[in-house]
Amino acid sequence: MTTPHNGKLFIETVGCQMNMLDSELVVGALRKQGYSLTDDVREADTVLFNTCSVREHAEHKIYSALGRLKFSKQARPNQVIGVLGCMAQKDQELVFQRAPHVDLVVGTGQLAEVPKLIDSARERRERSLAVSLDRKEGGRAAVSDSFQSYDPLREPEMRPTPHQAFVRIVIGCDKFCTYCVVPMTRGPEQSRPPRDIRHEVQVLADQGVKEVTLLGQTVNSYKHTQDGRLFRLSDLVEQIHEVDGILRLKFVTNFPKDMTDDLLQAVRDLPKCAQYLHVPAQSGCNEMLKRMKRGYTVEDYREMMGRIRSTLPNAAISSDFIVGFCGETEEAHQKSLDLIRECRFKNSFIFKYSPRPGTKAFELYADDVPEETKKHRNNEMLAVQNQISAEDNARFIGSDVEVLVEGPSRNELKRGDTTSSTGPVQLTGRTTCDRIVVFDGNPRLAGTLAQIQVDDCTPTTLIGQIVTREVQHGSSTLLPILV
Ligand code: SAH
Ligand code: SF4
Ligand code: F3S
Repeated sequence: MTTPHNGKLFIETVGCQMNMLDSELVVGALRKQGYSLTDDVREADTVLFNTCSVREHAEHKIYSALGRLKFSKQARPNQVIGVLGCMAQKDQELVFQRAPHVDLVVGTGQLAEVPKLIDSARERRERSLAVSLDRKEGGRAAVSDSFQSYDPLREPEMRPTPHQAFVRIVIGCDKFCTYCVVPMTRGPEQSRPPRDIRHEVQVLADQGVKEVTLLGQTVNSYKHTQDGRLFRLSDLVEQIHEVDGILRLKFVTNFPKDMTDDLLQAVRDLPKCAQYLHVPAQSGCNEMLKRMKRGYTVEDYREMMGRIRSTLPNAAISSDFIVGFCGETEEAHQKSLDLIRECRFKNSFIFKYSPRPGTKAFELYADDVPEETKKHRNNEMLAVQNQISAEDNARFIGSDVEVLVEGPSRNELKRGDTTSSTGPVQLTGRTTCDRIVVFDGNPRLAGTLAQIQVDDCTPTTLIGQIVTREVQHGSSTLLPILV
């Protein structure tokens, strides 16, 4: 049992969608005990950082934030400071050494313990470290068990919008790409039972969620046997598709080798599935892919793209690339640019290689591409990708697109309160192919589908105006909307 509490909680989250989901769940558990959220760290008596270790920069950010809190307990002796997530699992005791004022270090597999550990930190001024086994510390079953699945009741207010929710379907990763810490920080790959996932989606739909994004580091590696039947991602998607109230279904991140035809056909045949796939290539050079231990060649990736394009001709594909990986020559870099030009990704997330202690690449290969060269290649790749994104977005000018309205745009939120606003404000939504669209409209449209006529664009955004609105409750009548 944990103690009821009326304290103020500050939480900062960095990293991927998995971390956003974890923060939502931790905050949900703490709010049930009476905590309320604050965005001012100075007035918080519980300060949590949900951390990421994928690149050094992400860790740096958190250690700097911790550094700024060094003397904060002098003013608030009751304050509890906790480090959660991937860096907690990776650095363990080292966090206490680098930041002695930290009270808790809780890994990704122990988040259910957070409320209890905060209480004991406050009541007994006890420090605690709760982490899972290292991957070599035990057999597969023992290590897997030490990474508990953490999926308690959900906290709608922590979501980017109340209509969109993440649902974890695969925990951990077994691919061991040589540059990557995730298999260490998130543990062995484990697929959650379809029954639990479907139930969670049903609960979310009952709460008003319209868009569900299924999460896994290699989401399309999903496999679970339930009642003697093997469920792959295509089977799971088919099940979730039946849940009433859900209008759109996505899944990230896909691993190229596991992109099977049954999944592509499910996306083609099930109308709620977003016509969008994130399938990181990482490099366009076979030598680099081999060193990265990605398990495919450029030819394999190309073959997969061919299958995607023929099954899903209107789908948008996005990718991740690492520039400046160990031994990357100018020629290898040019091959990555060629792959981007050939595949015409909707967008690519581009990262400069960051050597990570504990990974194979760190052990085996020198980080031999100078920082200046990494920066240059990063900018060059960004320019190539941006041009493609701009050209592709321009094709939409003059046409109508259907968007799921998310809510007021970031600009609008910066300007202040939009909830009490009566007139139109700038809204954002996304098309089924994941393109961001901004337009003016009533904030109450959030969570509905709207038709937008596209008038203009940037490389990242389509800009337009509302044409009609589809009524959600049973009928499909199209009404003109006055804004
Ligand atoms: N599971 C996903 C991605 C997880 S990490 C996948 O396999 O695609 C998100 C992205 O961070 C990766 O796709 C990769 O491009 C990048 N990344 C991972 N480790 C990195 C490192 N050490 N340095 C730079 N970028 C890295
Ligand atoms: Fe990291 Fe590779 Fe797993 Fe993605 S697939 S999380 S890049 S090890
Ligand atoms: Fe970072 Fe952990 Fe996600 S290392 S990218 S927060 S899985």
